[in-house]
Amino acid sequence: MRTDWSFDVQYAFPVLFTRDVFAADNGVLADLMAPADDLPVARAAVWIDAAVLAAHPGLTRDIHAWFSAHASRRIALAAAPEGVDGGEAAKNGLGLVEGIARTCVELGLCRHSYVIIIGGGAVLDAVGLAASLIHRGLRQIRLPTTTLGQCDAGLGVKNAVNLLGIKNLIGTFTPPWAVVDDARFLVSQDDRTWRAGLAEAVKVAVIKDAGFLDRIEALVPALAARDLAAMEEVVQRSAELHLQHITTAGDPFEHGSSRPLDFGHWSAHRLEVLTHHRLQHGEAVAIGVALDACYAAAIGRLEDRDAERICGVLAGLGFRLWDPCFDLRDADGRRQVYGGLAQFREHLGGRLTLAMPAGLGRRADIDSFDEAVCESALERLRRLQRPVSRGGVPA
Ligand SMILES: NC(=O)c1ccc[n+]([C@@H]2O[C@H](COP(=O)([O-])OP(=O)(O)OC[C@H]3O[C@@H](n4cnc5c(N)ncnc54)[C@H](O)[C@@H]3O)[C@@H](O)[C@H]2O)c1
Ligand SMILES: [Zn+2]
Repeated sequence: MRTDWSFDVQYAFPVLFTRDVFAADNGVLADLMAPADDLPVARAAVWIDAAVLAAHPGLTRDIHAWFSAHASRRIALAAAPEGVDGGEAAKNGLGLVEGIARTCVELGLCRHSYVIIIGGGAVLDAVGLAASLIHRGLRQIRLPTTTLGQCDAGLGVKNAVNLLGIKNLIGTFTPPWAVVDDARFLVSQDDRTWRAGLAEAVKVAVIKDAGFLDRIEALVPALAARDLAAMEEVVQRSAELHLQHITTAGDPFEHGSSRPLDFGHWSAHRLEVLTHHRLQHGEAVAIGVALDACYAAAIGRLEDRDAERICGVLAGLGFRLWDPCFDLRDADGRRQVYGGLAQFREHLGGRLTLAMPAGLGRRADIDSFDEAVCESALERLRRLQRPVSRGGVPA
């Protein structure tokens, strides 16, 4: 006898845009955490990217003061905020996850407690993984502090750390309790990090919204000059497009064999590993998007001029579109970057499906990839490369 059982779980989480989230008169976080009158006081622990702490020396004091100012909402800080070394190092294995588990046990946090994560995409991924595993899931409130975090990484339902030399090998699909994008954090990023996340905005524009690509193109000078209002506009639209996809495309937990938001990522993930993370994720995505735009032109999915325009926008933002690691080859002469295809295929359960534009602003997957065609795309990219701008990736 066989009986099939099924149940649905509805997920919903707010994404808020604000400035100065820990100003005493900012109630955004209090509204997210305040418990109903008949429930106990809500407790929160805070993990902060060490680079954010260094760039905002008053932040810990502000957080303590903010919790005191909102004590009447029956929310309490469980312990002093803890710093976490940021960047890809945060995702290096499961060490950080275990350390956070220990702290959560010592603090007696439960499934109704909040884990507030303030940091770049890497810290969000690693602390988010811990929060999703401890007691099978504490409530995580993400405060992304990088362009990439606010445009993309902080919004989604995924978290992961790297293991065995494989990017994002260990992770879960866990929606956050809430996401708060505070533009003030973006100001202290260095030029590379400020720029890197814009690659994800260009990516999502190319496959979902041609008008947004026009707008990014118009804003290139302002973005390159670090205009915060221009950045807030791009972050909000990019966030909307990512969230629309996650919530309406029908496969938020990627059970199917497509990863549409990973346009340009098969080579990007590989380049990150091949460069030993000399390239930030967003910098690698810029190269991957440029390469796949050239590939899309070569297979008739984009006009040549559109592919060159995409590359032009990325170069105008200051991205380098070529990396010497493209020339690394295996013993059999095959470029090592193509190893990224096999890893994508494995991740998708054996079938390779890659997102590609179908005209600007639209997408249709491909299920075969021709390395000979990619060779011509690579040649094109090599020719298009421009000199490194100030603040660009060091060779
Ligand atoms: N979960 C997802 O859906 C998803 C999506 C895209 C990317 N990611 C992951 O995100 C990671 C990349 O994130 P990222 O681009 O934010 O880089 P990052 O987290 O590596 O941060 C870059 C650097 O900036 C520092 N930093 C962070 N915020 C700062 C601030 N406000 N001021 C000064 N310095 C600051 C960090 O310490 C780090 O040194 C990758 O590991 C990538 O795989 C995850
Ligand atoms: Zn990405």
